[in-house]
Amino acid sequence: MLLKIVKYPDPILQKPGEPVTEFNDELRKFVDDMFETMYHSQGIGLAAQQVGVAKRITVIDLSCGKDPADKRVFINPEIIERSGKLYDEEGCLSFPEIREKVQRAAHVRVRAQDLDGKWFEIDGEDLLSRCLQHEIDHLDGVLFIFRISALKRDLALRKIRKMQRDGTWD
Ligand code: NI
Repeated sequence: MLLKIVKYPDPILQKPGEPVTEFNDELRKFVDDMFETMYHSQGIGLAAQQVGVAKRITVIDLSCGKDPADKRVFINPEIIERSGKLYDEEGCLSFPEIREKVQRAAHVRVRAQDLDGKWFEIDGEDLLSRCLQHEIDHLDGVLFIFRISALKRDLALRKIRKMQRDGTWD
């Protein structure tokens, strides 16, 4: 089932997610719907807040549905190690048309639970590292435009206000 993607400035996007405690069919269905919604919008990462649910759940697929091995679910994820630096453009399904350069760690190690509640660890480099940091930020209620300079943020917010006025940002 396709879910509605919430756009900035919906307040849920800045709400930290509650930890998931029940690993049941409802969770599985929700994660399936998140993947379907992300693929439909050609995204590579989606956090629960972006479909209106403040819970610590994110899905990532760098292949955008082309390679089943790239389909990843992270429940209650946390970054346990970070190193190096990356500075590259990011976009977000909650900010269509907006792309900004954001500084991130080049490598992260993340601990998370899978759909059965089993803990695992994963190392992310480059794009996966960036994507993990962007999505885990979402789960903390942190948006990428708050990781850029105030000047660039003002320009981006101005662009959004213009799109709102033109009716191209609902
Ligand atoms: Ni995002």
